[in-house]
Amino acid sequence: MEDPPVIPARIIEAKRDGLAVPVERLRAFLDGYLQGTVEDYHLSAFLMATYFQGLTPAETDVFVRAMVESGARMDLSYLPGPRVDKHSTGGVGDKVSLVLAPLAAEMGLFVPMMSGRGLGHTTGTLDKLEAIPGFDTALSLDAFRRVLESVGCAMIGQTHEIAPLDRRIYGLRDVTATVPIIPLIAASIMSKKLAEDLDGLLLDVKVGDGAFIPEEDRALELARTMVMVGEERGLRTTALLTAMDRPLGRAVGNGLETAEAIRCLAGEGPEDLEELCVREVEEMVALTRPDRPRTEIEAEVRAALGSGRALDRFVRMVEAQGGDPSVVEDPTRLEDAPLRDTVVATEEGLVKEVRPRPLGVGVVTLGGGRLRTGDAIDLSVGFEVLVSVGDRVVPGQPLGMVHARDGDGMRRGIEILRDAVQMGSGDAGELRPLISHRVDASGVTTADPTSGKTHRPDGARR
Ligand code: URA
Repeated sequence: MEDPPVIPARIIEAKRDGLAVPVERLRAFLDGYLQGTVEDYHLSAFLMATYFQGLTPAETDVFVRAMVESGARMDLSYLPGPRVDKHSTGGVGDKVSLVLAPLAAEMGLFVPMMSGRGLGHTTGTLDKLEAIPGFDTALSLDAFRRVLESVGCAMIGQTHEIAPLDRRIYGLRDVTATVPIIPLIAASIMSKKLAEDLDGLLLDVKVGDGAFIPEEDRALELARTMVMVGEERGLRTTALLTAMDRPLGRAVGNGLETAEAIRCLAGEGPEDLEELCVREVEEMVALTRPDRPRTEIEAEVRAALGSGRALDRFVRMVEAQGGDPSVVEDPTRLEDAPLRDTVVATEEGLVKEVRPRPLGVGVVTLGGGRLRTGDAIDLSVGFEVLVSVGDRVVPGQPLGMVHARDGDGMRRGIEILRDAVQMGSGDAGELRPLISHRVDASGVTTADPTSGKTHRPDGARR
């Protein structure tokens, strides 16, 4: 006998009242949305009920399946090696992908990276890549596959063919104040990654003031949910909770971050960025080779970064995607903003905090971030922070630099930088460990604050 037609109000009602929605009914509701028999207002009401009632693991699974099955799935089985990607939930100064993709390719992985644009107070990988003149982030899937095969990594934007149901639902969540629903964030991110035909996935979940989800307990819940979704579908998935209580590296702003990533590939640091990239690539290799000793993988990754081979591979990817490789050889050739000014300390003191969120919002204020999807942005503006938490500074010492388009931007930029770098006396506040937690199929491990390495509660190293 055929199932009776789905009545949207009954599904909404069940979720509103905290009852489990039968999985086949929920699937019919989502299919109805794709076919046009369930309207935007039905789904919006369901999403708001979900905001308060959450989703069960079985309901989350229905969303993931419906999202993946709504679109194309890549076939990357022609590649002669393991396919591993990384996804970050986004943070201020997070330029890891630009360093990590060529470095992981240098370690024998294929990295089919589909990234996003900056939205809100965080910059996006696509915008950073487009600071390189000519770089094409909208390759056809065929061209993407060719670059991936010849270079080992390729970086493009999300194509319309992948998970269109997620795209539509995300559009509704964005305008109905229902983005912060952890199981839906997990389903949304994972549906796109599951369509990438991967052997392994590393998730970088940022925690702290500059993160999309600032609270540790919620970030951990997101990490656990995403690992569960991946592992249930046979995708080996590891998540790291990483610090976003200060910016990552020194540069904040698209082109400035691109230049910093290139310098990092050339072995010039900064230390926190380099360390995070090395640790993340180590995790990516371990996803496909869990038998290999970690110390051996780590030494190889550091050697690949130190030798300049990862930088050469980045140059090859830039060339293959139509970009101008000369800016990689000399990052000072990237377009800089017309005005640059240094902000100096006015008195002696201690740097107590470098707040990431005001800097991220500041990039938007200077014209370097979007208020709405599709807005044009200025890739050259932003900040360089020249001090770290715990530094003692003297009057006249540079705290940072502002790169602005005009005088008004410069005035605002200076205020923003002064507000972000909090000075005082006494002791500096505790910073989060660069990597505080690691989540995989076997559970959660926490960081050893003395070494920055994570360890299991039984004392065994990762
Ligand atoms: N990023 C996504 O892709 N989806 C979400 O729901 C949130 C962040």
